[in-house]
Amino acid sequence: MADAPASYSSAQKWLHWTMAAIIVLVMIPAGLTMTRLGDGGLKNSLYELHKSFGMIIFALAVVRAVVRLTRGAPPLEPNLPAWQRFAAHVSHYALYMLIFLVPLTGWAATSACCKPVNLFWTIPLSLPVPDGEDLAKAIFRFHYGFVYTLAAIVAVHVGAALQHHFLQRDRTLLRMLPGTGREASSYARPLRP
Ligand code: HEM
Ligand code: HEM
Repeated sequence: MADAPASYSSAQKWLHWTMAAIIVLVMIPAGLTMTRLGDGGLKNSLYELHKSFGMIIFALAVVRAVVRLTRGAPPLEPNLPAWQRFAAHVSHYALYMLIFLVPLTGWAATSACCKPVNLFWTIPLSLPVPDGEDLAKAIFRFHYGFVYTLAAIVAVHVGAALQHHFLQRDRTLLRMLPGTGREASSYARPLRP
């Protein structure tokens, strides 16, 4: 892999925030709501939107992993204690795994129970999984397990980003924001006066 870049590229930032917004604002609320609603049009529409946006998340995860593997990421902020460096690496790696595993298990389970899986009511995109209710139930257990793990890690991840910004006052959050480039990761953020 090439030398570590000095900052995240705009593509990396765009992918990070688009995926975060879809997962936190659409996927999790829609998933929790649709499974608790009585039968009807709203429930069906939420299922369709959940599945379609979920497959889009999977496609974005592929693009994101390719960008990450080819371009790399800037080194963590300096002066972090070893345990925070370790926690950051482990949680980022886990998040990368989960943005594949969560949609893939939802997609595979739905393909097992309820073909065709359509993208926004139109293009059929079912996975070649054998049909079967029991198989679908078993895969859905993984979907749920992975999604609750994802939600827990994201909660800690957000807490860590806010802690870096407001308490440690380093550039961890700023360098993931749009419009911050090379200069933003020069570790030169002034300390509190
Ligand atoms: C990042 C992507 C995804 C997230 C965050 C996510 C999240 C969730 C959540 C929170 C639930 C409800 C859990 C509960 O009620 O306790 C759920 C259920 C479900 N998900 Fe996903 N999901 C994703 C992708 C997908 C995909 C790609 C599909 C299918 C193509 C899918 C199909 C389903 C289905 C059918 C259910 C309901 C299962 C049932 O009726 O028991 N999900 N998902
Ligand atoms: C589902 C939601 C999210 C996922 C899956 C996610 C995933 C990730 C991953 C994998 C990285 C590492 C980037 C890389 O090395 O390529 C990262 C970095 C980062 N994320 Fe998130 N994130 C999510 C939500 C958020 C939210 C809501 C915030 C807001 C506070 C946030 C703040 C950050 C920051 C500041 C970094 C940069 C860390 C650094 O440079 O050391 N993330 N995120």
